Amino acid sequence: MKGKSMETENRKTIVVTGGSDGIGAAAARALVKEGHRVILVGRNPEKTARVAGELGVPYHLSDYARLSDVVRLAEELNAYEKIDVLANNAGGAQKERKLTGDGFERTFQINVLAQFLLTRLLIDKLAASNATVIQTASIAANLFGADFDPADPESERDYTPFRAYGRAKLGDILFTRELQRRYGDRGISAVAFEPGVVRTNFGSEASAFVNFCYHTPLKYLFTISPEKSARRLTRLALGAPGADFTPGEVYSYKKPLRLKFRDPDGSAAASLWSACETRLKDFL
Ligand SMILES: NC(=O)c1ccc[n+]([C@@H]2O[C@H](COP(=O)([O-])OP(=O)(O)OC[C@H]3O[C@@H](n4cnc5c(N)ncnc54)[C@H](OP(=O)(O)O)[C@@H]3O)[C@@H](O)[C@H]2O)c1
Repeated sequence: MKGKSMETENRKTIVVTGGSDGIGAAAARALVKEGHRVILVGRNPEKTARVAGELGVPYHLSDYARLSDVVRLAEELNAYEKIDVLANNAGGAQKERKLTGDGFERTFQINVLAQFLLTRLLIDKLAASNATVIQTASIAANLFGADFDPADPESERDYTPFRAYGRAKLGDILFTRELQRRYGDRGISAVAFEPGVVRTNFGSEASAFVNFCYHTPLKYLFTISPEKSARRLTRLALGAPGADFTPGEVYSYKKPLRLKFRDPDGSAAASLWSACETRLKDFL
C-alpha cells in the first residue's frame, strides 16, 4: 500500500519521539512514504522543524531533561483524536553523572522516566486506540546493564556512563513488560527492540571515546545505517500484535532478545514501575 492509495482504515497515526534525527527520523520518513500519519516529536526546534517540513507532518517539542516539558507534550498529544502507535525512541548516553533540574540522574530521566511519564499521561488515549507502545532499547542492556538494581535505578552506586546507559535501556525493557502486564487487558500492546549499532548522532553528548567510535570513519566498520535500523521499528509499528510480535517481548530484529538480567517473577519490573511512580508523584 502506498501514499494516496492507502485505505483510510489502514492509515495509522504514529507518534515518533526522537524524530529530529537518526533512527526516529528514518522511521518517520519510511512511515510517511507508506502513507501513515506521523506526528513528529523532537528536542531541537530547528532540526525538528526541518524534518517535519520535509515530510509535511505536524511536530511538537520537548526536552526530556525537563519533566514539565513532557507534561506539556502529553497535553498536546492528547488533543489528537487517536494514537495508534507511540514510539518512545528519544534517548541517548551521557558522559558523566549529572542531575537534571528535576533532581534525577540524567540518563535515567531521559531514557526511562520521561518515557514512563509520557506513556502514563497518554494511557487513556492509547488504550482507546488499542495502541502499540514501542521502546527503543539497546544491546547495552546486556553488555553493561545486567547488574541493574531496581532499588538503585539512578546508579547512585557504581556509576559509569556505560553502566548508567545499559541499566536505563534495561529499564526500558522492564517498563515494556510491566506496561504489558498492567495494561494489556485494556488493549495496549507494549514491545521493545534493540536497533543494532547505528551510525546516527548517537553519542554526541557522551564521552570522547563514544564520540570517536560514532563520529569518525571508524563507524563504517561496525555500524548499520539509520534506514536499515528503522525497519526494526516500522516492523513493530505496522505489525499485528500476537501475529507479528509478542506483546511484552524485546526484539533483536525479528527474534526475541535473550536477556542476561533475569526477572522470572517480574518483581524487578514491578519495582522499577513503583520507583518511577514515586519519583513522578507530583506529575501523575
Ligand atoms: N545509534 C545506536 O547505535 C543506538 C544503539 C542502541 C540504542 N539506540 C537508541 O536509539 C534511540 C535513537 O537514537 P539515535 O541512534 O537515532 O541517535 P540520535 O541521532 O542522536 O537521535 C536521538 C534522538 O533523541 C532525541 N533526544 C536526545 N536527548 C533528548 C532529550 N533530552 N529530550 C528529548 N529528546 C532527546 C534527539 O534530539 P536532538 O536532535 O535534539 O539531539 C534525537 O531526536 C535512542 O533511544 C538511543 O538510545 C541507539
